[in-house]
Amino acid sequence: MNAIETMDLTKKFGNLMAVDSVNIQVERGEIFGLLGPNGAGKSTIISMLCTILKPTSGTALVNGYDIVRQASLVRKSIGIVFQDPSVDDRLTGRENLEMHADLYGVPKSEMRSQIDKMLELVELSDRCNEFVRNYSSGMRRRLEIARGLVHTPKVLFLDEPTIGLDPQSREHIWSYIRELLKIEDITIILTTHYMEEADKLCKRVAIVDHGSIVAMDKPDSLKEKLGVETITVKTQNNNLYVEKIKETHIAKSVAIAGDEVKITLLNAHTILPLVVDIASRNGIKIESIYLQEPQLDDVFLHYTGKALREGSKELSGMGAIIRRQIK
Ligand SMILES: Nc1ncnc2c1ncn2[C@@H]1O[C@H](COP(=O)(O)OP(=O)(O)OP(=O)(O)O)[C@@H](O)[C@H]1O
Ligand SMILES: [Mg+2]
Repeated sequence: MNAIETMDLTKKFGNLMAVDSVNIQVERGEIFGLLGPNGAGKSTIISMLCTILKPTSGTALVNGYDIVRQASLVRKSIGIVFQDPSVDDRLTGRENLEMHADLYGVPKSEMRSQIDKMLELVELSDRCNEFVRNYSSGMRRRLEIARGLVHTPKVLFLDEPTIGLDPQSREHIWSYIRELLKIEDITIILTTHYMEEADKLCKRVAIVDHGSIVAMDKPDSLKEKLGVETITVKTQNNNLYVEKIKETHIAKSVAIAGDEVKITLLNAHTILPLVVDIASRNGIKIESIYLQEPQLDDVFLHYTGKALREGSKELSGMGAIIRRQIK
């Protein structure tokens, strides 16, 4: 049985088609990512799967329960971490978890140990008796993740779990998510704008645009399908070099970006020597050159035609880079 199966899941807000006949299957135990530009419909899909919103048509099974006909069974079997902060900052960290555990009917006998276990997972054990209003945003986020897990859900929904966090806090959250998968029998659906996050964590991703799935596969397969690679070259005469590369018609595109020349090609590995040769034949000295395999950012751009939201850029380009310095 799949953890999630949607059947033509659709949501209209008036005339706006927010989610358009979406069909997704998520296997048990996988981390599945929903990627898409602002307003693509990611949160709306999650809200329907969590039974917060009713579909206009179509339906879905979550843990085998129908989101329309068996909403309360769905609710009991899932955990949610919303896009917008939702912990109560007038309570302590522990009190927040207790309130939630109570709400979900976690037996008193198990409550303490379950809460301790989750506090430990998100490294808040030593701060759990402080008021949440004194927490940093990273700590709040970690508490929200712990809260989403306190009633041992089978499926956890994380809507932008690391938005606005610094790279270090983000890394921490990734490690909790990975750890969680090892210790619990759980399936995770997450939305994110950070391509590196999706690439590192998700077994499969779906790219959503204007309410529809435009691509769905393993991150590596999506990158491979794209085919193009980028060679970035820094020369002592970039303008002349661009001209010479253009003359050879080997590239899909060539452009100056900052003080470098970016050349995208279908088969960069085999063309690399030629790219070097063009420079030396024309007396252009190369200062550095590196080959970059396609990134998930490139996949995203290809399918949605949109660049990523600000703030995610610093994370791009850290993946499969083969850097070669040429003296
Ligand atoms: N309650 C609502 N009433 C009317 N329109 C809505 C409502 N909720 C969402 N929408 C619209 O539905 C579309 C999808 O919104 P949604 O929040 O699902 O996008 P998203 O992919 O989560 O975006 P983001 O990346 O900004 O979080 C948007 O055009 C949004 O304005
Ligand atoms: Mg959203």
